[in-house]
Amino acid sequence: MTIVVGVTGGIAAYKAVSVIRSFVLLGHDVHVIATDAALRFVGAPTFEAISRNPLNTDLYEGVSEVRHVGIGKSADLVVIVPATANTLAKIANGLADDLLTNTILATTAPIVVAPAMHTEMWQNKATQANVQTLRSRGVTLVGPATGQLTGSDSGPGRLEEPEVIVEAALALVRKPSARRGRGASASSTDESARLSRRDLAGHRIIVTAGGTREPLDPVRFLGNRSSGKQGVAIATAARDRGADVVLIAAHLDVPVPDGLETRSVSSALELQKAVTDAASGADVVVMAAAVADFRPAKLQEGKIKKDDVGEGLQLSLVANPDILAGLSAGKRPDQVIVGFAAETESDPQALIELGRRKLKRKGCDFLVINNVGWKTGFSTDDNEVVVLDSHGDIVMEAAGSKTSVADRILDVITSA
Ligand code: CTP
Repeated sequence: MTIVVGVTGGIAAYKAVSVIRSFVLLGHDVHVIATDAALRFVGAPTFEAISRNPLNTDLYEGVSEVRHVGIGKSADLVVIVPATANTLAKIANGLADDLLTNTILATTAPIVVAPAMHTEMWQNKATQANVQTLRSRGVTLVGPATGQLTGSDSGPGRLEEPEVIVEAALALVRKPSARRGRGASASSTDESARLSRRDLAGHRIIVTAGGTREPLDPVRFLGNRSSGKQGVAIATAARDRGADVVLIAAHLDVPVPDGLETRSVSSALELQKAVTDAASGADVVVMAAAVADFRPAKLQEGKIKKDDVGEGLQLSLVANPDILAGLSAGKRPDQVIVGFAAETESDPQALIELGRRKLKRKGCDFLVINNVGWKTGFSTDDNEVVVLDSHGDIVMEAAGSKTSVADRILDVITSA
């Protein structure tokens, strides 16, 4: 396969060398186009030696061969690594002022972009708008990852690991359905297939899990029995499938796997703040947490004493915001918002109807209905779910381990 690797001017340009080398070692014919800025970070001889082909840099070289069109036309796959904020802006706007951007305009091959920049630049509204434009045109973004940046700071913006970029790029070409867009993936719950699947590389997914606690006084709270197992299973499966995952955890009863970025929250209001902040840069938000609908109207400074309340204690509660409904109302058109419905209804048809009513109230893209009760749903290792799409149609039914159910839910999301 002919792969064109575009390298643009960021400190992460040195990692492009590993990506190029992997493609070459896998037997691909790799042609590198480096921008002038990229060559300030890595020298031309390195790219030529590693790619085993002459480096392409100058728009005005080989004009008689119409190279600015020829390279793009010959490509089976174009991978830009690293992609700076400036390059994202140029290709989102169809600018063509150097050999790389000309090549991108001329190619019909799948394009994979691995951004790398400082967090502020990545989160800037202009960059996010450019990213949305590129995604809507079927460009696949891989990363950025969250972690240590060039300076002492860390956050989202770090180049995704070279092996993840290579795998995501090759997976795109292997799967015809995934070309130029978020493709449908085969439904598979087989563990080894699951671990080798990287179909969520480039996607940022926020998952809430667990149950919120609403404090009454310094020692007591109103809570629920959610263990967080299903939410953690979804976050873990998404991470295994290559997604950049943030888990927002409210009092989990299960351990969180190493390396999963986790933000701990306690009350519904804390969860609302954490998920709303994180959702702005996310492709998918999964609200698996059991959120308290009400909180005590007044938080007691000191412990509520039995002697002070007499025979019975009257609690005054106020409604918490509906976080899922808020996320759905404020979502970007390309975002996917997934809600859960915990219901105690045992009649299957009535259960679906309850789900449909909840879906209408919440306005989310998918609603995962599961039956909960004294012995089902919470803390168990297995789950049984029905998933509705935004029209209220059943798009998936699954029963099995929470891990296998997690994968089935992710399959539905990737097919959106
Ligand atoms: N949810 C939310 N904010 C709330 C309550 C629930 O975002 N204040 C979310 C949950 O995370 C879940 C979905 O809404 O994804 C449904 O939660 P559920 O407890 O089943 O429904 P409720 O809205 O609480 O309605 P009810 O208790 O009447 O069934």
